[in-house]
Amino acid sequence: TVSSASQGLVDKDGHRHFMAKEIHEQPEVIAHTISRYIDGTSKTINLPNGAFDFAKLDRLTISACGTAYYAGLVAKYWFERWARLPIEIDVASELRYRDVPWTKDGGALFITQSGETADTLSALREARKNGQQIASVVNVPESSIARESDIVFPMAAGPEIGVASTKAFTCQLAALACIAIAAGRQRGTLSAEEESELVSGLLEIPRLVAEALKQSDKIETIARDIAKATGIFYIGRGVSYPMALEGALKLKEISYLHAEGYASGELKHGPIALIDENLPIAVIAPVDAHFEKTVSNMQEVMARDGKALLISCKDGIARAGEKTWANIETPKSHPLLSPIVYAVPIQLLAYFTATTKGTDVDQPRNLAKSVTVE
Ligand code: AGP
Repeated sequence: TVSSASQGLVDKDGHRHFMAKEIHEQPEVIAHTISRYIDGTSKTINLPNGAFDFAKLDRLTISACGTAYYAGLVAKYWFERWARLPIEIDVASELRYRDVPWTKDGGALFITQSGETADTLSALREARKNGQQIASVVNVPESSIARESDIVFPMAAGPEIGVASTKAFTCQLAALACIAIAAGRQRGTLSAEEESELVSGLLEIPRLVAEALKQSDKIETIARDIAKATGIFYIGRGVSYPMALEGALKLKEISYLHAEGYASGELKHGPIALIDENLPIAVIAPVDAHFEKTVSNMQEVMARDGKALLISCKDGIARAGEKTWANIETPKSHPLLSPIVYAVPIQLLAYFTATTKGTDVDQPRNLAKSVTVE
């Protein structure tokens, strides 16, 4: 039989969905993006000329919309951890109207696939008006946001046609990881050895993403059950928390199923009242510093008959996956780089839930690829 690597990824006329093609391009385009920053021999990061002098920044404001915002949320953990840089982050539609106490030596970083998102462009102009140095991570070099930036950090996702952002998201993450590592080196908060270790971890990512794609058939089977549910929760901690938010958005926007992402430590502060035998909970739990705590949150859910879907590596599933409703094995990476790899199962879960429901995967109802209106 034709595997879902080609079967489930085509529409009723046998045309391959752009989203499927773009999900499967990720190993290649992530490698292209990383190669724009990394010197593979010296295992160091080189930023484009004219980039921020991170040593002089007293704060970095990050702003974007939707999936690009979730890439920024992951980057917040990286900048704080590797560069000890105070981060202010908000969705662009809020940042542009807040009375932000801008600092005199602040930088502002805007993340956008299209480079034409109206809210993000307006937030950029607000930051510029308040004396911030402006940088952007943008997939379309000749776009409005690229043109209005002092510095454009490259990402090499290539054209992304599917409305749901997939390869652009993982290329944004790859670029942001490189930028945060370079910031740590410039600010003297990351040693050359740590840089080398992280660069080696990044160079592994394309192979791990290709490995993660091999779970496609299993994920398609799980998605058939998810498609029957009335809703789904995603939970995660640390860098997996923004991945819970992204997983929920991906599912909502292409399958029209209600989904919610939550910090797993927050379940007990209310949402656990929603848990019953009809509600799948996707638990994003790479084996990192938060693994044990996230697993105990999952066990609280299972104690209330919640259907726990554990997304973890082989070791994590061996340690905690025995009585779960389902498991998705995801390759082990450097712990802090796990979001780039864990993007794959959450993209495939959304994709196959949508194809099971028969929604228009590439052009979901009510959505546009670039939201150029406010
Ligand atoms: C993500 O899958 C959505 N298509 C949407 O949230 C998107 O990320 C957002 O509109 C931002 O678009 P941009 O990256 O082009 O600025």
